[in-house]
Parts: sequence; C-alpha cells; structure tokens
Amino acid sequence: MAFTIAIDGPAASGKGSVARRLAEHFGLAHLDTGLLYRAVGARMMQGEEPIAAAQALRADDLDVPGLRTAEVGVAASKVGAIPEVRAALLDFQRAFARRSGGAVLDGRDIGTVICPEAEAKLFVTATAEVRAERRFRELIGDGHDTTLAAVLDDIRARDARDMGRADAPLKAADDAEVLDTSVLTLEESVAAAIALVEAARAG
Ligand code: DC
Repeated sequence: MAFTIAIDGPAASGKGSVARRLAEHFGLAHLDTGLLYRAVGARMMQGEEPIAAAQALRADDLDVPGLRTAEVGVAASKVGAIPEVRAALLDFQRAFARRSGGAVLDGRDIGTVICPEAEAKLFVTATAEVRAERRFRELIGDGHDTTLAAVLDDIRARDARDMGRADAPLKAADDAEVLDTSVLTLEESVAAAIALVEAARAG
C-alpha cells in the first residue's frame, strides 16, 4: 500500500539519515526538502533574487555539488524565512508526496504544512550539544578547520531562525511521534523509526 511518511526536525538531528533508511526499508521514494531551500540559497549567494530563483527552480538544480556546505545551509535557512519562497516550492513537494508508490519527505514543515495528511509523522530531534558534536565530527572528518563552540553557535542560530520564523516554523505536528536520538546510535534510531512507522500504519 502506498503511504507517505513525514519527517521533521532540527539541523543535524539525524532526520536525513533516518528518512533515507526508512525509504529503503519500505521501498518508497525519498525527497530531502532541505535541498530545495539549499538550491535557492546557493543561487542567492550567486546574486540571484531568491523569490525568482525559487519560482524558476527545476529538479535538475538539486543535483549540483556543493549544496551540503555549512554556508549554503545558512543561506537556505535565510531564504526559508521568505513566505514567497516557501509558496513557490509547495506544489513540487506536494506532488512528490502524492506519488503513486508512496514517499518519505524530510524537512521542517512536512507534517505541519506540506503533508498534514501523512500516514506517519516523526519529529526527529536531539539536544543542541549532541547535534553540534555530530556535525563537528563530520566537518573535521571532511578536513574542515572549525571548533565545537563555533559549530554549536551555528546550530543554535539556525534553530532560532527555523523555529522563530512566522511562516511554517519548525515544530512537531500535534500528531507526530517524537524520536529523541540524543542517546541513540544511528542503527537504534532507524530501528525505533521503523517501529513507530509500523505502529502508525497499523493505526
Ligand atoms: O535540512 P537542511 O539542513 O538541509 O535544511 C537547510 C535549511 O533549509 C534549514 O535550516 C531551513 C530550510 N528548510 C526549510 O525551511 N523547510 C524545509 N522543509 C527544509 C529546509
């Protein structure tokens, strides 16, 4: 049976990895909606006007390298606060969610705005300190020169912007299951997510 899984949560909570693994497990298509905002953010960094960039965005634009950097993440968070940008990206996300084979979407407003009717909703979170530690290890592993304190500052600033914006702020849907990954490994998080989705489907 086709069904939609909505996954939301803050930066570096593990939601992307959990979403990817759920899609594999249930045989569903996956959309990382952060990439849409990152693609618009990257175009803004190149001097484009963000609303026009969002309106002109095509699926091919999500395939470009360099969208996963911290700088593009900050730009994505900024353009995500512009209501016209969010409106321009809405139809693509809703169409993806309604694919006949079912889909997993992860982002900030999937359970609240994009797919309020999703069969399963998860809010994946972890403390800011744990998320900063994970992101710090990733960055150092990739050869970046940074400090844990700087990464924690970035995470806090991004949380404040994503949760504080007026339009579609980051928050758990009333009917979402909260999955706190602070003390879980990735494998434990995935197992817990699968169990929550199975329970939601059994309804
Ligand atoms: O998930 P991510 O780190 O790739 O997202 C980057 C930014 O994009 C995030 O800080 C806020 C914005 N975003 C959003 O506003 N709504 C979404 N559904 C996904 C991302």
